[in-house]
Amino acid sequence: MSHTIAIDGPAGSGKSTIAKRLAARLGFTHLDTGAMYRAITLFCLQEGMDLNDETAVVESLDRIRLRVSPDAIVLNGTDVTEEIRSVAVNAHVSLVSSYAGVREHLVAMQRRIASAQDSILDGRDIGTVVLPQADLKIYLTASPEVRAKRRLHDEKNTSRQSYEEILKAIQERDLYDSNRAVSPLRPAEDAVILDTSAMSLDEVTERIVEEFSHVSTLS
Ligand code: DC
Repeated sequence: MSHTIAIDGPAGSGKSTIAKRLAARLGFTHLDTGAMYRAITLFCLQEGMDLNDETAVVESLDRIRLRVSPDAIVLNGTDVTEEIRSVAVNAHVSLVSSYAGVREHLVAMQRRIASAQDSILDGRDIGTVVLPQADLKIYLTASPEVRAKRRLHDEKNTSRQSYEEILKAIQERDLYDSNRAVSPLRPAEDAVILDTSAMSLDEVTERIVEEFSHVSTLS
């Protein structure tokens, strides 16, 4: 059976960066599940759909072919790795990801990918819903101010938004993601919770490698 590590946490907590580093270190595949929700949101925006129309959004899944690899996300044959980080996608992805039909579709895909190889998945519901049997569950968090600052300096941030705008968007998204009816953002009961506000990337990575060494010797 493949090994799995679940990394959850709010926007800007460093999940993807940490997951990428860990994957390289441990020889695992990294799956950024947020990128999948973002790609579906981008498709609906491109189609000019009313994103409040849940039925239309869920029906559009039949017209979407996603190919995900650790370095790129391809939507119906087009590489959208950069486009999914746009301000428009940021503003609408929480709504699209709150729809049960969208979640069921992507969770099934995520489980298929994780069952085929040793994987690190990062997202909001990995430890609670997608992989409740994960070998290790990490919940990364940091203060909203630290997270906004990280996003501001993130090389993927091409939006030219100010610190204040980013902070406001992060706080709105946190609120929405934590309060939605289906799979809200919250730590799994058996997750290791790490507040990374005052930790460097190296420190966080080392700490998780150490946690994983404890559980991997048990299995
Ligand atoms: O990690 P991110 O910021 O790229 O995620 C984008 C959005 O997708 C986030 O606001 C909530 C949603 N999401 C989710 O609901 N479940 C996941 N497993 C991953 C992301």
